[in-house]
Amino acid sequence: MQKLEVFGANKLKGKIKISGSKNASLPILAASLLSNKKIKLKNLPKVKDIETMIFLLQSLGSRILIKKNHLIIDNSRQFKKFASYNLVKTMRAGILVLGPLLAKFGSAKVSLPGGCAIGTRPIDIHLKALSKLGVKYSISNGYVNAIAPNGLKGNKINFPKISVGATENLLIAACFAKGTTILSNCAIEPEIKDLTIFLNKMGCKIKWLSKRKVKIIGVDNLKNTDHSVMFDRIEAGTYLIAGAITEGNLNILNVNPKLLKTEIDILKKVGAKIRIFQNEIKIIGNKKINNINLKTAPWPGFPTDLQAQIMVLLCKANKKSKIKEEIFENRFMHVGELNRMGAKISINGNEATIEGNANFKAAELMATDLRASVSLILAALNSKGKSIINRIYHLDRGYENIEKKLKKVGAKIKRIN
Ligand code: EPZ
Repeated sequence: MQKLEVFGANKLKGKIKISGSKNASLPILAASLLSNKKIKLKNLPKVKDIETMIFLLQSLGSRILIKKNHLIIDNSRQFKKFASYNLVKTMRAGILVLGPLLAKFGSAKVSLPGGCAIGTRPIDIHLKALSKLGVKYSISNGYVNAIAPNGLKGNKINFPKISVGATENLLIAACFAKGTTILSNCAIEPEIKDLTIFLNKMGCKIKWLSKRKVKIIGVDNLKNTDHSVMFDRIEAGTYLIAGAITEGNLNILNVNPKLLKTEIDILKKVGAKIRIFQNEIKIIGNKKINNINLKTAPWPGFPTDLQAQIMVLLCKANKKSKIKEEIFENRFMHVGELNRMGAKISINGNEATIEGNANFKAAELMATDLRASVSLILAALNSKGKSIINRIYHLDRGYENIEKKLKKVGAKIKRIN
């Protein structure tokens, strides 16, 4: 099992190029199943979850040419409609093939995602919404067996709760539903807007009517498509926090600062100096870190995927901070490990209280999930001495070349077998 060895503490200085977005790439790859035409996708991040999604598409019959900087996807061959547990269990976004398979073939058998460290990850909202498009489903042996005997039929659907995955599954499925579908109370993360751009490039007819309301008019044929995936705003936010916590001076490249407004405002409140350029953000960390209280929320609120990372920064604040995790029921797995490094964080339900003034000590650590593992690196970068981080397969699911990118700006970090 591979580990990371991190020697802290030192300031990070230089430029970091941000990769394509994992959470935009996954629904776009799933949506490609709708098409029998040629699809060219660029700027996909080279991370494990994308590899897993590619295997999943290939297991369904996709022919995928993997070039250095892009993929060519051809889905015209006869298709299987079975997404197996062994692929979906490691990457819950595998459930996103359910919508396109139903839309294209009228039936699908997809493994239930199963829970993970951060929560049970149910899909009840996906399934109830799909049944409003005429889908009949049953659940047995850990699989969803779904059919649309008369094809999908457009309908008005109001999501009972904001769900990124459910919004994506329904957006994709509705593209082939007969007639018009209106989805309300949608998630509106930038990755969903990128998915909308991709689907419309393919020839789908999607129009956002108001903040969380979208209209989809069903179509029945698509065209060759070429799309470059947006940047990864969570990776960008992670490196901005790395610059702040190491009192560094980092330029984060290939980003759209407008999509990081909430994070930038928070980092300024905490005391970092930030300069915005067209596709670049400069952050200069400050010795004095101010405490704040925040809660995670759907876009445009503070992203739950940056909660572990900002918590590490707030451990260094001069006074007490509080973080409320409003999206997932168990997303404080990093707290135990941070306390072992000298943080003083207590949890009460979905609220963490961070004492501040932590003097992180290097330690041997255990990663539990994707974002928790990167928060341990941030703490290790701020601790004198050698830290070891185990189970970094969590990290490799969503961060491309993290040790290479960090080494380039002065981190003493290496992967050991
Ligand atoms: C997406 O997960 C992201 N994953 C997550 O990023 C991200 O944390 C999450 O959205 C919230 O922004 C991808 O895009 C691949 P949800 P998703 O449906 O779609 C509950 C990362 O680190 N819910 O918006 O699974 C659910 O349990 C990952 O990159 C239901 O109850 O998130 C959660 O509490 C982690 N029933 C809340 O809604 C459902 O049918 C939000 O989940 C669906 C969701």
